Amino acid sequence: MVAPRVAAARVPLAASRVHTIAMKQIYIPKAGPPEVLELRETKDPEPAAGQLRIRVEATGINFADIMGRLGIYPDLPKMPVVPGYEVAGRVDAVGQGADQRWVGKDVLAMTRFGGYADVVCVPEIQVFERPTAMSAQDGAALPVNYITAFQLTVVMGSLRKGDTVLVHSAGGGVGIAATQIAKHIGARVIGTASKSKHEYLRANGVDDLIDYRTEDFEKRVLEITAGAGVELILDAVGGESFKKGYRVLAPTGRLGMFGMSSAATDKKRNVASLLKTVAGMPWLQFNPPALLNANKGVFGVNVGHMWDQSARIAGWMRELITLYAQGVLRPHVDRVFPFEDAAAAHHYIQDRKNLGKVLLAP
Ligand SMILES: NC(=O)c1ccc[n+]([C@@H]2O[C@H](COP(=O)([O-])OP(=O)(O)OC[C@H]3O[C@@H](n4cnc5c(N)ncnc54)[C@H](OP(=O)(O)O)[C@@H]3O)[C@@H](O)[C@H]2O)c1
Repeated sequence: MVAPRVAAARVPLAASRVHTIAMKQIYIPKAGPPEVLELRETKDPEPAAGQLRIRVEATGINFADIMGRLGIYPDLPKMPVVPGYEVAGRVDAVGQGADQRWVGKDVLAMTRFGGYADVVCVPEIQVFERPTAMSAQDGAALPVNYITAFQLTVVMGSLRKGDTVLVHSAGGGVGIAATQIAKHIGARVIGTASKSKHEYLRANGVDDLIDYRTEDFEKRVLEITAGAGVELILDAVGGESFKKGYRVLAPTGRLGMFGMSSAATDKKRNVASLLKTVAGMPWLQFNPPALLNANKGVFGVNVGHMWDQSARIAGWMRELITLYAQGVLRPHVDRVFPFEDAAAAHHYIQDRKNLGKVLLAP
């Protein structure tokens, strides 16, 4: 759902909880540090034809929202904009043509922006009933992280039992999701993460850990694998990291590229970091003869460009919900910030403190 650009009343953050009738949304009014985030109230939306209206109990924060706030995320609609790709809550109304039986159901949903809100209206195909055991928090933590991880490991990465996968940012939402899927497949996981997260990650399935802030991951991966390299890499750090990763791929190895968090070094847009990341990309290394002769593959993932593939995404989501119900997958919800503290939530992620998912709650 693209957030409607209607004039909205500005509300002092502290006073916002008093209001219960109007919809609350968190806007990025302009690029800048976390403090630019602004809570506004506006009229409750009515579901359009084919849409369901959800009273939101939890909203997922994704790194893309941070990049959007910094002004370095090209997909973000023009500001002011309400970011947010995923929510969980309860359906309270349906638009014309949508199935009435949704009313009262506990759901999770994917939103095309607009998810930082306590009410959203989304097309029926983007909404999924939550199993009874799934809390709203787990529901909001599932869609983006697990769909991304599934596309990277299963759909495009073809990860197989006995393979070794290198997961960058293993302590982030996608990293934890990818580790759970990889362990379910029977793969060995090498993860990079800040040192403070290693103990948790080791206890939760990562076989070998690299503190990328003090160690060279290329050297360490070759040591850990006795020079063999890895069959799959999940890399959203970008820049030089893609080059180094390509070098540690085993024959038939695949490098899955899905972000460039190395461009987000500061709380404000830093053009020098952005240029360094872009300049560090392996523009020349991935040419057809090189790939062919090395028996290596590279691929890209951007779930935000899969909206025209709703039916496929819905199928993956249903598989993931089944795996959740079987106890195979469990998002790790690290912290839940109230809407009023959205800026603190963005700081928390940019300070690299999060271990798994960070959520907002109205
Ligand atoms: N293409 C897609 O479809 C797609 C979908 C989802 C996410 N992504 C990308 O995947 C990456 C991870 O997303 P996520 O939602 O899992 O992240 P997250 O949960 O917000 O975790 C962020 C973690 O990334 C690590 N990190 C590495 N470089 C960083 C930097 N420059 N600034 C801040 N943190 C940095 C930090 O942990 P450590 O220091 O412990 O490593 C941090 O805690 C992001 O780049 C995101 O844009 C792409």
